[in-house]
Amino acid sequence: IRISVLVSGNGSNLQALIDAIEEGSIENAKIVQVISSNASAYAVERAQEHDIPVNIITKHDYADIRDRMDAILEALNNESTDLVVLAGYLSILPKKVIDAYEDRIINVHPALLPKHGGKECYGIKVHEKVIAAGETESGATVHYVDEGIDTGRIIIQGIVPVKSSDTPELLQARVLKKEHQILPEAVRMVMREKGW
Ligand code: GRF
Repeated sequence: IRISVLVSGNGSNLQALIDAIEEGSIENAKIVQVISSNASAYAVERAQEHDIPVNIITKHDYADIRDRMDAILEALNNESTDLVVLAGYLSILPKKVIDAYEDRIINVHPALLPKHGGKECYGIKVHEKVIAAGETESGATVHYVDEGIDTGRIIIQGIVPVKSSDTPELLQARVLKKEHQILPEAVRMVMREKGW
């Protein structure tokens, strides 16, 4: 199947997918493009190192969000995308894109949804909230994307302990490693579920 990955930053989740496909632990799948909302994202370099076409579609290039989303939709369609993976993508996809790829967009979130999801819950902030809430466990979630923020059907979760000595950075690193494990597994699960 043909996978388009949307990124904004470091791209370690993109790298986990690239590695899983290259080592054969995800079969019958190809990352046909990486779409980045940030021209200087390290995720772009990771894609280039693996000869994956890159599309930079930023707020700077498309002042009007509708034009930007049309550009994303066009890029997805141009590559005959089967599955869209949001891997650290920091924009919210509008209904137009969600509807065009209904039940074929998945996102990785660095917490155990439905807790600690939503608009303010990204980056280091999620882990600050988890620690502040006194949670003894955290983890990562891969879910289908619907019109809400972090609200779609959950595909897989991975749990990690929250230690009393944890700083947000320590917890973030532990959760990120878990993300790298469950995102490839989520792709395999989706492919099985859809008979791809
Ligand atoms: C990860 O924490 C992911 O859960 C969140 O954004 C971060 C992306 O990291 N959506 P990377 O760009 O994949 O390294």
